[in-house]
Amino acid sequence: MTLFEQQANEFAARHIGPNEHFTRQMFRTIGVKSMDELIEKTVPASIRMQKTLNVPAALTENEYLKHIKEVSLKNKVYTNYIGQGYYDTITLSVILRNIFENPGWYTQYTPYQAEISQGRLESLLNFQTMVSDLTGLPIANASLLDEATAAAEAMTMFFNTLNKQDHIERPKFFVDKEIFPQTKDVLLTRAVPVGIEIVEGDYKTTVINDSFFGAIVQYPNDKGSIEDYRDFVSTVHGAGGFVVMATDLLALTLLTPPGELGADVAVGSAQRFGVPLGYGGPHAAFFAAKDDFKRSMPGRIIGISIDAQGNRALRMALQTREQHIKREKATSNICTAQALLANMAAMYAVYHGPAGLKNIAKRIALLTQTVADAIEERGFELSAENFFDTITVKVSNPDVIRQKAEKQHINLRYINNELIGISLDETTEVADLFDLINCFENDTDPVAFDIPQDAELNRLPENLVRTSSYLSHPVFNTCHCESQMMRYIKQLEYKDLSLNTSMISLGSCTMKLNAATEMMPLSWNHWFRMHPFAPADQAEGYKFIIDELSKYLCEITAFDACSLQPNSGAQGEYAGLLTIRNYHEANGDHHRKVMLIPISAHGTNPASAVMAGMKVVVVKALDNGYIDVEDLKAKAAQYSNELAGIMITYPSTYGVYEETVKEITDIIHQHGGQVYMDGANMNAQVGLTAPGLIGADVCHLNLHKTFAIPHGGGGPGMGPICVKAHLTRRLPGHVTDGSSNAVSAAPYGSASILLISYGYIRMLGPDGLKAATEYAILNANYMRARLQGAYDILYLGTNGTCAHEFIVDLRPFKKSAEVEAEDIAKRLIDYGFHAPTMSFPVPGTIMIEPTESEDKAELDRFCDALLSIREEIKEIEEGKSDKKDNPLKNAPHTQHVVTADEWKHSYSRQTAAFPLYYVTQNKFWPSVARVNNTHGDRNLICTCEPVEAYMEAEA
Ligand SMILES: Cc1ncc(COP(=O)(O)O)c(C=O)c1O
Repeated sequence: MTLFEQQANEFAARHIGPNEHFTRQMFRTIGVKSMDELIEKTVPASIRMQKTLNVPAALTENEYLKHIKEVSLKNKVYTNYIGQGYYDTITLSVILRNIFENPGWYTQYTPYQAEISQGRLESLLNFQTMVSDLTGLPIANASLLDEATAAAEAMTMFFNTLNKQDHIERPKFFVDKEIFPQTKDVLLTRAVPVGIEIVEGDYKTTVINDSFFGAIVQYPNDKGSIEDYRDFVSTVHGAGGFVVMATDLLALTLLTPPGELGADVAVGSAQRFGVPLGYGGPHAAFFAAKDDFKRSMPGRIIGISIDAQGNRALRMALQTREQHIKREKATSNICTAQALLANMAAMYAVYHGPAGLKNIAKRIALLTQTVADAIEERGFELSAENFFDTITVKVSNPDVIRQKAEKQHINLRYINNELIGISLDETTEVADLFDLINCFENDTDPVAFDIPQDAELNRLPENLVRTSSYLSHPVFNTCHCESQMMRYIKQLEYKDLSLNTSMISLGSCTMKLNAATEMMPLSWNHWFRMHPFAPADQAEGYKFIIDELSKYLCEITAFDACSLQPNSGAQGEYAGLLTIRNYHEANGDHHRKVMLIPISAHGTNPASAVMAGMKVVVVKALDNGYIDVEDLKAKAAQYSNELAGIMITYPSTYGVYEETVKEITDIIHQHGGQVYMDGANMNAQVGLTAPGLIGADVCHLNLHKTFAIPHGGGGPGMGPICVKAHLTRRLPGHVTDGSSNAVSAAPYGSASILLISYGYIRMLGPDGLKAATEYAILNANYMRARLQGAYDILYLGTNGTCAHEFIVDLRPFKKSAEVEAEDIAKRLIDYGFHAPTMSFPVPGTIMIEPTESEDKAELDRFCDALLSIREEIKEIEEGKSDKKDNPLKNAPHTQHVVTADEWKHSYSRQTAAFPLYYVTQNKFWPSVARVNNTHGDRNLICTCEPVEAYMEAEA
C-alpha cells in the first residue's frame, strides 16, 4: 500500500481493533490461515455476496469533517416560531460538554447491570421525579421515543385495561381535534391493527358513552389555547373511561398540572428542556400515570432498592412487564428508548431548579402576550383567549405574511389559508419581537417593545394557574453554579462503566466504537437547530444525508427502498410488520394475520407482532440452535391461508449462520407469507451477505448497533426499515407530506443521529465496511477459541466456528459449585468488565459479542478475566473455596467493603478487588454491592425520596 493509499484507509485502521501483526496471531489461535478461510468456514457459500458494495470510497477523518461541514451549510437556520411540539432551546454548555459530547455518558448501554450503572440510574430517577412533579402524577417512566408514540402507548394501555384480547367491549377512543396533527396520525396508525376505533371531534360537544375506553386532549392545545378539561375528565370517568393529556413540561411550571385536573396519564416531549431540535430528534418523551397503572405502564421504570450491604441502590423496576419476559403479552415493545436525552432534560431541570424553570416559562409567556397584544392592536384576531407560548392568528392572506417572514429568515407555522401559528421559546429575545411583528405590519412603522419587569401575565386563565409546588427535592435546588453542576455530572459518570473504561461485549447489542469524528458534527448549529417541519428548501443538507444514507442502506441490505422514520429497532419491527400487513390487505388477504416467530427470537418480535394486529405462532429450535424446519413446514402448512409471514434474525440469536435459511424463506413464500428479518445481527452481514440475498422481504437495521450510533445508556436509537420493491408503497408516510401511516412524530425519526451512520459508512467505504464484518467474526472466534475447553460453547456452525457472537454455557456450574450466571456476571465487574448479555436467548448463559472495534489486548484481558473466574469456580468445585463465601457469591466488591476495618472472608482483599495484574492498572469500582432485585419491586419507589428518608438513613 502506498503512503497515499494508507492515508485513504486511515479510518478503517482506527475503527477496527486488531492490526496485521495481531491478526496473524489470532488466526493461529483459531486454527485458520487467513481471513478468507475463516469467512469461508463460517458464512455459507449459498448466501455470500458476490460483489463489492457500491458505496463511495472511504474518506479520511479530515476529509469527512470538511465534507460534512459543506453539507451542513446547505441547511438554512432560520428563527423558528413553528412550535407544534418542537421548540428551540438553549443546550446549556455544561451539559453539552459533559453529557452530550462525553463518551462517559453516551457510550453506556441500558442499565441491565445496575451495580455499574448507578450514575445514569440516578439521573433517570431525577427525570422521573421531574416529570412526576410537573405533571402532578405519582409515577413516571424513564422516557419513551417521542410524544406521538407516547400518546399511542397511553391509548393502548387504556384499551387493554378495559378490553379483553378476544372480546372488545369498548372499541372507541376519542381524539380531540386540537391535538398535534402528527400525534393524531400516529394514533390512527396504531389504532387500526388492534381494532381501536378513533373518534375525532370537539371535546366540548362530543358525547362520550360506555363504548369509549378513553380520550386524549392536549394542554395547551395545538393552537396554543389553554382549556379547562375538568368537566370533560369527569364525563369520561363517569362513562368508565380514562383520559390522557398531551402536555408541555415548561407550561406546567405555570399551569395546574394534569394530575390535579383528574387526568389518568400525561404524555409529551421533554425536548425543550435543553435538547437540540436536530430536525426531529432524538428527544425524550415522557409518560406519567396514576398509581393504578404502574404494572401496565410501557417502557423502563427506574426504582429504588437496596444492595447486599443494605445501602440504597437503584435498578430498573417491574421488569416482568417488559417484552424480555412477557413477550407477546408485554405492556409494550419498548426496548431502546431515549435515556441520554432524558438525562439531558433532567440535568436542565437540576441546573435551572424550580425557580429558574419558572422564570424561563414566565419570560416566554410575557413575550408571547406582548406579541399577541401587538398583533391584536394591528387588527388581527387570535383564535384563543388564553395561551402560554403559542398564539394562532386569523389571517386573510397568509402568503403576504409568509413572504415577509421568509425575507427576515423567520419561520411561522402556516396551518392553512386562514390560520398562522406563532410559538415562542426560551431563545426568543425582546429584540426579536420587532421583526416578528413586522411580518404582520408594514416595515415603515418600527415598534419598540418595552416590557416592564413587573408586567403581569394576563393570558393565563385564573382558574388554571398553578398553586402546587414542584421540584422541591435537594437535587433540583443545589447545583445552580457551574462548578457544582460539572462535579455532579462527573460524580454520576464515575459510577458508570462505559466504553471509555473497557469493552462491553453485549451479545445482540453490538457495542462498537462510536468514533469522535462521527459524533462531532452533531453539535454544529446547522444540524442542531433545524426544526423538523421547516420548509424543505431550508433543509437541503438533511435531505442530502437522508437520500444518500437511504441509498447506502438499500445497497447494504440488497433491498429497493428505505424509511428512516422508526426511532428504535422495535419500532422498525413494528413499521416493517405494518408494511407486510398493509401489503396483504391491499391484495385482499385480510385474513393473513399469523406471524411465525422462532422460539429464540428477541422479546420485541412477538410484542411488535401483537401491536401490528397479528397472531404469534412459535416455531421450535433444534438442539443445534437451528430453526426446526420440519416444525416450520408443519406450521406454515397448518396456517397456510392465514400466514402473514415469519420473523427471523440472521445470523440467528444463537450466533450461527443457518445454511437452511433459504429453505426457510422459500417455505414461507410458497405459503403466501412475507419474510421479516430482524437486523440486530447485521454486523455479521454487511459486505458478506444481505437480507435481500437470503430471501427476506423487509428488515430493520439498528443504526445504534451496526452503524455506530451510541446507545446513550438506553437510547437514542434508529431502526430504519428497508424493503423489496413490492412493499415500497406500504412504507410509513407523514402528515407533512400529505400522507399518513406514520410510526413516529417526525418524518425522519431522530434525524440528527443519522449523521453518525452516514459518517461511519463514508469513512469506512466498501472495503472498510466489509472488513469491519470480517473482524467482528474474527474477534468473536478468537475469544471462542481461547475460552473453549474451559467453558462449553453452545451452538457452533458446521465447521466449528461462530458468527460475530457466541454463547457460553454457565448452567453446569450451578450443579458443580452452586454458581449461577449472575454470580459470574457480577464477578466480571471486579475484573473491570461489563457482563455480556445474560440469559438471552438461553437462560443460564452469557452471550459474548466483542465487535470489530476491540483490539487483541482488550480481548485477551476479557478472556483472562473469564479464565481466572473459571479457576475460582474450580476452587469451589474442589472444595478449596467455600460454596457460600467466595469471591463470586460476594461480587461485586465495593471500595467500601474492601477497605473496611473488618474483613471476614476466606479469601483475601486483593483477590476480591485486584484479581489480576491488569486490574491494578485500571480499576473500576462499583459504587454499590449486588443489588437486591426483588426488594425494589416489593417496595416500589420510582421518584427521588423526600429528604427525610436520607436523614433517617444517616441517623
Ligand atoms: C435481536 C434483537 N431484536 C430487536 C431488538 C430491539 O431493538 P431496540 O432496542 O432498538 O428496540 C434487540 C435489542 O437488543 C435485539 O437484540
